[in-house]
Amino acid sequence: MCGIVGYIGKDRAASVMLDGLKRLEYRGYDSSGMATYRDGALQSIRRTGRVAELESAVGEDLGGELGISHTRWATHGDVTEANAHPHTSSDDTIAIVHNGVIENHLGMKNFLTGKGYTFKSDTDTEALANLIAYHYAKEPETKGKNRFLESVRKSLTHVEGTFGIAVICKDNPDELIGARRGSPLIVGLGKGENLLASDVSALTHCTTNVVYLNDNEVVHLRPDDFNITTITSANVEAVIQQVDWDTSAAELGDYTSFMEKEIFEQPASLENGMRGRFSDDGSTALFGGLNLSPQELLGVDRILFLACGTAWHACLVAEYLIERFARIPVEVEYASEFRYRNAPLDKNTLVFAISQSGETIDTLAALREAKRKGFRTLAINNSVGSTIARETDGGIYQHAGPEIGVASTKAFTSQIMLCAMVALYLGRLRDLSFTDGTKIVKALKALPDQVREVLKQNEKIEAIAKKYAHYEDCLFLGRQLMFPIALEGALKLKEISYIHAEGYPAAEMKHGPIALISKDCPSVFLTTSGEIFKKSLANIQEVKARKGAVICVASADCELPDDLIDEVIRVPECHEIVQPILMSIPVQLLSYHIALQRGCDVDKPRNLAKSVTVE
Ligand code: AGP
Repeated sequence: MCGIVGYIGKDRAASVMLDGLKRLEYRGYDSSGMATYRDGALQSIRRTGRVAELESAVGEDLGGELGISHTRWATHGDVTEANAHPHTSSDDTIAIVHNGVIENHLGMKNFLTGKGYTFKSDTDTEALANLIAYHYAKEPETKGKNRFLESVRKSLTHVEGTFGIAVICKDNPDELIGARRGSPLIVGLGKGENLLASDVSALTHCTTNVVYLNDNEVVHLRPDDFNITTITSANVEAVIQQVDWDTSAAELGDYTSFMEKEIFEQPASLENGMRGRFSDDGSTALFGGLNLSPQELLGVDRILFLACGTAWHACLVAEYLIERFARIPVEVEYASEFRYRNAPLDKNTLVFAISQSGETIDTLAALREAKRKGFRTLAINNSVGSTIARETDGGIYQHAGPEIGVASTKAFTSQIMLCAMVALYLGRLRDLSFTDGTKIVKALKALPDQVREVLKQNEKIEAIAKKYAHYEDCLFLGRQLMFPIALEGALKLKEISYIHAEGYPAAEMKHGPIALISKDCPSVFLTTSGEIFKKSLANIQEVKARKGAVICVASADCELPDDLIDEVIRVPECHEIVQPILMSIPVQLLSYHIALQRGCDVDKPRNLAKSVTVE
């Protein structure tokens, strides 16, 4: 979503901030801007479009010792230069960049208009810039108190909503202030320079020493020191952490897009996620960070999974696998619904969130609600140090490496692999036999090579994509474990190619979606062998009878009649627990190639952001 980079220290503020903003480009944005302190005044440049536009507007003058910068994803007001951040108070004293939403900005605006402040944008953020300026103007110079800091604190006590902010003041060229509530903000500590950013990836070109701010904390930075307090002035002891960040992981290398790179990285991301997580006897999984003993886990009667988007599809896979192999009832909720639903939960429920970024606001809020009610919370998460990772009682890191493409690919398969391993672990604590456990461990260990096999079909899938890229509608159909993959396939296709796509359990088709089938609406069937296979064939026949084209992603042992299927993509035979992972790969490649055929930017699809940190 929106990105923040702030800098204080050496004479290179603009260049450090531009580098940082470029590293945040993948999160999705529509405009960008920066303000630097120069010759006793705050100078601001803002542009719509890509960071390259801002870069060329900044030109050769990459210096300055103090600055704040931002990539915006519009929430209040159109995509215009006037609405881009930073926003400056109408008396030109304060400049601010902001992530989040200030819900009471209209009330603030009315109050400030009455006090003579004026507004040039349609944003909620400008109200906060003026409110800080108002308190700054009113704040007396008191010995032992910092007037700028006090005015930021005082203003924040009036904010309803969420914020991650970086603020500078024209009278204070050696001070940078940041604060957060609900939107991530990280302090980067360098030598003679300090930074603020909304994402650790925007700091690592300068330092790997970081402090993650917690909600309602304010940081006051100078080039050589920093101090953290709460909004209400209580002292906070900062915990400095070292981030382990492989910068090459966030670079394209020989690939043409991050989505392509991340699809092809899956053998490695799966290997990284399972490394060191099997028992010596090869019959179960091991997780170091659950912080729950086997005895405590045996007391769990129900598991509730919470997530959004693709991660929610991973939860559906978890539901099938945990119920099947561990026989524990599982419920899956959209985090955004759960947080407002007040669902009755059994006291022995374990709450599990899945989130690639660890910053999705709805998932975080749902987790907090579950914690407030006293439930144990765990997370499967790909971002070390993220808010969700820090606020849950325990969890499992995915170790999939940074996922830059907005459309989730390697994070999804890594999540479902870890769900399979959780099912195995919980199953082995209950009724899953040693023999069945070892079969699953073998299947998981064989998985990266099997994914490599599927990836070899890239060219074949590209050729199929060329034939189908012109359609405007598409159905994805699968049963049982393949149903969540059908949902994910439809989401992937719609988000990057803008084709209308729907995922359904194949048998549900007759209850409505069959009305869509025609020669203009192909269907992608996900079929595996087993009891239900014949039923899937019947569904395929129903589509063919209505002249719909059928693309079938099928396991190697499915016998498919030639006259029924227009295209077949095979995946190797495997244990059912890893089928959802293998079947996901062709579906990702199909969407990827169709989007390319349609000339779409697969890494930055329109209207989407990588991490959704506003409601
Ligand atoms: C995936 O392709 C998405 N763009 C989106 O649905 C994403 O999975 C969702 O926003 C949840 O994100 P998270 O995993 O970071 O919480």
